[in-house]
Amino acid sequence: MIIHGVNMKTTVSIIKADVGGYPGHSTVHPELVKKAEEELQIAKKQGEINDYFVGKCGDDLQLIMSHNHGVDNKGIHKLAWDTFVACTAVAKKLKLYGAGQDLLADTFSGNVKGMGPGSAEMEFEERKSEPLVCFMMDKTEPGAFNLPIFRIFADPFNTAGLVIDKGLHHGFSFEVYDVMEHKRVMLNTPEETYDLLALIGGKSRYVIKRVYPRKGSPVPEKEPVACISTDKLSQIAGKYVGKDDPVALVRSQAGLPAMGEVLEPWAFPHLVSGWMRGSHNGPIMPCSMEDATPTRFDGPPRVVALGFQVADGMLNKPVDLFKDIAFDHARKKALKIAEYMRRHGPFEPHRLPAEDMEYTTLPEVLEKLKERLKPME
Ligand code: 13P
Ligand code: 13P
Ligand code: MG
Ligand code: MG
Repeated sequence: MIIHGVNMKTTVSIIKADVGGYPGHSTVHPELVKKAEEELQIAKKQGEINDYFVGKCGDDLQLIMSHNHGVDNKGIHKLAWDTFVACTAVAKKLKLYGAGQDLLADTFSGNVKGMGPGSAEMEFEERKSEPLVCFMMDKTEPGAFNLPIFRIFADPFNTAGLVIDKGLHHGFSFEVYDVMEHKRVMLNTPEETYDLLALIGGKSRYVIKRVYPRKGSPVPEKEPVACISTDKLSQIAGKYVGKDDPVALVRSQAGLPAMGEVLEPWAFPHLVSGWMRGSHNGPIMPCSMEDATPTRFDGPPRVVALGFQVADGMLNKPVDLFKDIAFDHARKKALKIAEYMRRHGPFEPHRLPAEDMEYTTLPEVLEKLKERLKPME
């Protein structure tokens, strides 16, 4: 966008939090959406943000904002924090479940990172046309994005453009976080594909944070083309701090994967960790925003995709992409897998291994049985 002869970059930020479920952990109360819209409308009028869309996925409230302040901007993060605080007051009044659940601190410290909410942000020079997808998940963790993001940007069986479009043929660069050691590494595909997969197959420890274009791409190398929220995990290294229902932004077309290539991996409802009590494996089901209301065993986990055509800093109205009947088959498959997984009850691999569970009674059970635990013959 050109303003007074200066080329202003556009930033898209999605900042989300669970500030109260309705009922239980299933969805967001309409009053919370209304409150968030009111707050962001004021910010838009005051010129703090260019545009906004308030979304929801399960019990997570999603603030999608466009502005010109870059990523990690204190004002934008404070706006999101204050909006969640205002929504928490409404949630408390309605006695919604877990009101203020994701606001881990009492006062705002300058950035929402590590304070409970999740965020994904990208700053870029708007292209001639700027299609962007905002993915929102509920009842799972950031590693749930590893498989589909890999397939979008590195799997030629998913993305035809990697083979037949010279804008994509040289591949992409993946920024991967090791959330236990608090380290990051850049890996280039296609030549480091096997190294990348060796890491991101372990999705509870290694998570894709960003994807960048490579030399020769029509998109500048320094601009991320995908960004995934990893907040809680990356802030408190080495310690399990619970599942953080993640979000992601993915740019598309003209030297990047086409919209249909960005959506193709979701036709396969892969297994993710989360679901009931954040302690079970289950299929992720693509669905519309309206249908993202986890019920059965608090699930199955959901993913919603909102498609935007960003123009001159404005987000404009999104299209609810998974509403399309082309994803009916994936939904049916997810429900079939959910049925199969549920039959395992408290047994792994439906229930997560002890170290990945959000909470467990195992230490207490072992303590109680201490005296009765005898050496084996
Ligand atoms: P672009 O190269 O313009 O992104 O077109 C590819 C496409 O839309 C294929 O479906
Ligand atoms: P949320 O993380 O979406 O609040 O879900 C928590 C839970 O325990 C579901 O059973
Ligand atoms: Mg909740
Ligand atoms: Mg949630």
